[in-house]
Amino acid sequence: MTAGIPVEALTKAEAQAELTRLAAELKRLDEAYHRDDAPQIDDAGYDAMRRRNRAVEARFPALQRADSPETRVGAKPREGFAQVEHRAPMLSLSNAFSREDVEDFIERIRRFLSLDGAEPVEVVAEPKIDGLSAAAHYRGGAFVLGATRGDGTVGEDVTGNLRTVADLPDTLEGAAPPYIEIRGEVYMRKDDFAALNAGRDAAGLPLYANPRNSAAGSLRQIDPAATAERRLHFFAYSWGVLEDGGAAADIGRTQSDFLDRLRGWGFSVNPFARVCRSVDDMIALYDRVQTERAALPYDIDGIVYKVNRLDWQARLGMVSRAPRWATAHKFPAERAQTVLNEITIQVGRTGALTPVANLEPVTVGGVVVSRATLHNEDEIARRNVRNGDTVVIQRAGDVIPQVVEVLLDKRPDGAEPFVFPETCPACGSHAVRPEGEAVRRCTGGLICPAQNVERLKHFVSRNAFDIEGFGSKHAVAFLEDGLIAAPADIFRLHGREAELKEREGWGEQSVDNLLAAIEDRRQIPLHRLIYALGIRQVGEAGAKLLARHYGSFGAWRAAMRQAAAERESNPEAAKPADIGEAFADLCSIDQVGPGMADDLAAFFGEPHNLTVLDDLAGELDVEDAEAVAAESPVAGKTVVFTGTLERMGRSEAKARAEALGAKVAGSVSKKTDLVVAGPGAGSKAKKAGELGIEVLTEDVWFDLIEG
Ligand code: IVH
Repeated sequence: MTAGIPVEALTKAEAQAELTRLAAELKRLDEAYHRDDAPQIDDAGYDAMRRRNRAVEARFPALQRADSPETRVGAKPREGFAQVEHRAPMLSLSNAFSREDVEDFIERIRRFLSLDGAEPVEVVAEPKIDGLSAAAHYRGGAFVLGATRGDGTVGEDVTGNLRTVADLPDTLEGAAPPYIEIRGEVYMRKDDFAALNAGRDAAGLPLYANPRNSAAGSLRQIDPAATAERRLHFFAYSWGVLEDGGAAADIGRTQSDFLDRLRGWGFSVNPFARVCRSVDDMIALYDRVQTERAALPYDIDGIVYKVNRLDWQARLGMVSRAPRWATAHKFPAERAQTVLNEITIQVGRTGALTPVANLEPVTVGGVVVSRATLHNEDEIARRNVRNGDTVVIQRAGDVIPQVVEVLLDKRPDGAEPFVFPETCPACGSHAVRPEGEAVRRCTGGLICPAQNVERLKHFVSRNAFDIEGFGSKHAVAFLEDGLIAAPADIFRLHGREAELKEREGWGEQSVDNLLAAIEDRRQIPLHRLIYALGIRQVGEAGAKLLARHYGSFGAWRAAMRQAAAERESNPEAAKPADIGEAFADLCSIDQVGPGMADDLAAFFGEPHNLTVLDDLAGELDVEDAEAVAAESPVAGKTVVFTGTLERMGRSEAKARAEALGAKVAGSVSKKTDLVVAGPGAGSKAKKAGELGIEVLTEDVWFDLIEG
C-alpha cells in the first residue's frame, strides 16, 4: 500500500501506484457527490486527498495521468443513461405532521370541491416507501421503457435495469390498456441491504448509508447484470401516461379500483393499503403501521393518503408540483444524542445570521451528522443551549438536522450562555433585528462578502443557472480570486481564458469545457433567471408563477419597477389595491402573497440591484415563458370571479381558469377581459359594466371553457 507513505519518501514506482489509486478514488468520490448526491467523505478528507494528489504530481510531473483529477471539473453527470422526458410530470407530496394537519387536508378538499357536510371523503391510505420512484411504460401490455424520476420532468432511461426488478411484470396479465405508464417505488429490503453492505465491507468497498441510497446506486448500475444481483423490489401505486383501453381494460373509478387492476396485471401493491372513510380511520392505520414499522422488511417514512374517487382527483389537480388530492403523513423524525462542540454563526444569502451547532459526528437514521441548525437567537435562549452541552438532535427526511433538546444534567461546569453577536461575523456591519421578527440580519448588503458568496452559490445552483461543471465550490474560488464579482462576470469569463488556464488544477480542456458550458446557459428560461436572483421569498414555484404571469423578461421587469415605485409612495398602505395597480396585479397571482410582493418591490426599489440585473440581462438571451394551453379560448385573458358560484367553489374555479392559461384577478380594472358574475354580484359587476367589460354568467363561462 502506498497510501500512508509521505510524498517526499515515495519512489517513482510507488508514486505511479499512488496516482492511480488517487485518480480512481477521487473519481468515485466526485461521482458520489455530484451525480449520486451521496457524499462519501467530509470536505476536509476530500481536500486532503486532492492536495496529496497535487503534491505527488508536483514531485513527479512526468507521471501525471491523462485522467488526473486535476484536469477534471466535477463529475460528468449521469453518463451512460439517456434522458427520458416525463410526459406527465412526476410530482412530489405535501406533508402532514399531526392529526390536525390531516384534518386540514380533508377540510381543504371539502372546501375545494364544495362538498356538503354529509358527503364523506374516502381516501386510500398506504405506507410511504423510503425508496426512489420510477416509471415503467407498457405498450400493448409489454414493458417497453423504464425511467427514474430525475427532477420530475426529465429522468434517466434505466429500462434494462428496471427489467431485472422483481415484482415488475414483463407483460401485463389479462386485458391491458394500449399504453400505460405505471409508477411506484423501487426499494431494497433491509436484510438484502445488510447482506450487501457486509459483502462490501469484507471486500474493502465503501458502505452504503441506508437502503434508499443503496437502491438508488443499484438502479443506476451501467450494467443491468449488476443491478440484477442487487435484488431490488417495486411497489406500484400510480400511473402517468394513459391511453384509455375502454371498458375492458380501464383503470376503474377509484384509487382502490386501480390498485386492484395493478394486482391483476401482476404488480406488487403494498399490503397495508386500505380505504379509510374518516380521519379516525386514517389515524388508526397510521398508528398501526407505525407500531409495526421497525419489524417491516423495508423502510417507510410515513403514510400517504390519496382521495379515492379519480374524478375528484382530476378536479383537485395540483399546486406547486404536488397534488391537492394527496398528502404524506410523516412519522416522527429519528433522534440521537451527541456533544455540541461549538456554536458558530452562518451568514445567508439575504443576510440572515443563523446559529449552527457544530457536533461530535453521530449517526442518525443511517446518516452521519456533524452540524445542526439552531434556527435563531430566541431558539438558543429558549433551549438554553451552550457550547459543550450534550444535546438531542433529530433528522426528518431531507431537512437539515435540528437540535431539539439539551440534557442539562450533562452540562459541563463553567459552560457560559451563548452571546449572540450584534455585528456580522463576515463583514462587521451592524446586524439588526426588526421588532417582531425572529431573525437578525447583517446590514452590509452588497458589501458583505458572506452574502455575496451565498448569492453566487445560489445563482449557480441546480435549479438556477446550473452550469455544468461549475458548482458552488468553483463560484466561491473564482470570487475569492477576483475572477468574478457579480453574476454577469461569469458570462464574461471567456475574456479571461489565459488566466483561467494558468489556474492550479485547470488545463486547456477543462477551461474549454467550462466556457462551453457557460455559453450553453446564456440562453435561459425566464423562471430560472427569476429564481437565480435569490430574492427573498421567491422560490422556484414563485419564480414559475411570475414567469407565467408576465411572460417576458421585459414585461416582468417593467411591472416590478412599477410595483416598487407604487410601494415606495404608499409605504403605509395595507390593501394591495390601495398601493397601486401593478402591486395589486402582482398580489392577484394565485399563491403570491403580500409578503412576496413586498420583497419583490424591495428588491426592485434598490438601484444597485437593477444595475446588477441589467448588467446580467445584457449578457443573456432570456426565453419567454411558455403560454399555457394557448389554444384555450381564455388563455392570456384576465378574469375576475364575483358573486356566488354555484357549480364549483371559488378556488376550484380559479384553479381551472389558471390551468387553461387565464390570469385570475381579485378586482376589476382596465386590464380585465372577462367578469364571471354569479348571484349577488355587486360593485365589481357594476364596474365592469362601466368599463365596457364583458360580464358572463357562470353557465356561459362553463360553455366557453368546456367548448
Ligand atoms: S404517490 C402524485 N405513494 O414519495 C403523487 N408516493 O414525497 C405521487 N412515495 O416522489 C406519489 N411511497 O417517490 C406515492 N405510496 C406512495 C409512496 C410515494 C413513496 C414517494 C414518491 C414521491 C415521494 C413524494
